[in-house]
Amino acid sequence: MKQVEEKYVKLIEPSLKDARMRKQQNVNINYFFLDPKYLNLGLGKYYLLKTYGCQGNLADSEKIAGILEKMGFEKATTELQADLVLFNTCAIRENAEERVYGELGRFQKFKKKKPNMILGLCGCMPQEEKTIVKLKKQFPQINIIFGTHNIASLPEYIYDVLNCQKKVVDVKSIEGDIYENIPSVRDHPKKAWVNIMYGCDEFCTYCIVPYTRGKERSRRPNDIIEEVEKLAQDGYVEVTLLGQNVNAYGKDFTDLNYTFANLLTDLSKTSIKRIRFTTSHPRDLDDATIMAMANGQNIMPHLHLPVQSGSNEVLKRMNRKYTKEEYLTKIQKLKQAIPDISLTTDIIVAFPGETEEQFQETIELVKEVSYAGAFTFIYSPREGTPAAKYPNSLSEAEKHQRLERLNEVVNEQALKNHQKYENQIVEVLVDGPSKNNANILTGYTKHNMLVNFENKTDNLCQIGDLVQVKIIKAYSWHLFGELIKS
Ligand code: 5AD
Ligand code: SF4
Repeated sequence: MKQVEEKYVKLIEPSLKDARMRKQQNVNINYFFLDPKYLNLGLGKYYLLKTYGCQGNLADSEKIAGILEKMGFEKATTELQADLVLFNTCAIRENAEERVYGELGRFQKFKKKKPNMILGLCGCMPQEEKTIVKLKKQFPQINIIFGTHNIASLPEYIYDVLNCQKKVVDVKSIEGDIYENIPSVRDHPKKAWVNIMYGCDEFCTYCIVPYTRGKERSRRPNDIIEEVEKLAQDGYVEVTLLGQNVNAYGKDFTDLNYTFANLLTDLSKTSIKRIRFTTSHPRDLDDATIMAMANGQNIMPHLHLPVQSGSNEVLKRMNRKYTKEEYLTKIQKLKQAIPDISLTTDIIVAFPGETEEQFQETIELVKEVSYAGAFTFIYSPREGTPAAKYPNSLSEAEKHQRLERLNEVVNEQALKNHQKYENQIVEVLVDGPSKNNANILTGYTKHNMLVNFENKTDNLCQIGDLVQVKIIKAYSWHLFGELIKS
């Protein structure tokens, strides 16, 4: 074991080699408990959480806030007020990391003026070896660095930093257990994230997530069902089930034959009004899940099914383990079982070696499926993943051109899908006033379409209400309408 430098209380650094390993080990389920010695550590202190990346990180940040508030910390309303600043980071693309480094630089300067401020970094970035090297060299002001598997140990890190004025680096590379009972301060009063599993075993050649989030581990069905029923009893209207590949749910159980379709069916019997889930992997999406979606009245008719590319050669190099034809067959089954389903996707352009013809195949697929929306990305090499070593001959300008050409087709198709709702009355779950105009309310339809709407009635509209809105005009990324008097 390496000698820990004087300035660290703990120095456990990540290893990509270890992170690649998948052991056949049972997953431990731990129940979070806050040691009384940490209980009042945050009294009179304020925390600021800066969250980047996916819904998984949003859910983690709600748990981090839950732990901090249990310790007595309060949420800061300004940056200046914060005694503890935590960056919950994303490693999925270069630009996500660059944004974090920019902000970290700003807060380092800030800390010079407020030396007692604790600066911490967690999430996916610290799971990469290169990040730790860079942080230690360029950001010496950071006090706490921990990984995605270490959230439950946060009270201990804060205690150590406050007591010994030393630094903590604690990044576990393999596995990670499941923690139940972590308190959560949810951002939305009526919509909740519910993790159903952690990690990813897919190893798509471009993706860093299997290295940063560890192996697939599913929560026990009863823990999930109880959480959802409790949320419904507490007045929540919508849950979004989270996992990197929810369709692999239950595959790691050694004592139970229970799949994602079983979970959906059981959850549809709870009293929660709306159930969503993300993200799905096309290879693992099965007929039983499609049927569960079709039969569950409270399972929303929307599916985010990342295709990544419309070319079989590219899909193979990405290690996606399905062909374009297999993907399209599943889309057909979905459309048959749920005729009004809205479909969205993720697409990567300029993957190493992607030819113009292969890119065209992606464009054709987008037209054929006719997505209601898509997140589109230029491929970003991630150190340690296989694709980072593949030769890429396209210029930056060519990559951007492909993205723009794809976006044009995506927007056309999205508009077409949104236009189906013009003059129709749809159910909207109200999120509150729009950011740009307090007279306009926003919310989402069952099909996960964003609706901005006016309330010309004398009905009071509150966050979390399910209201009827008449759609007046469709745009590529949202609908515009007005509230119907009920
Ligand atoms: N470069 C660009 N996009 C990526 N994604 C994942 N890894 C990369 C990468 N290295 C995209 C995929 C995935 C979404 C969450 O991010 O499309 O579905
Ligand atoms: Fe989420 Fe992926 Fe970013 Fe990690 S790398 S925070 S899993 S989007």
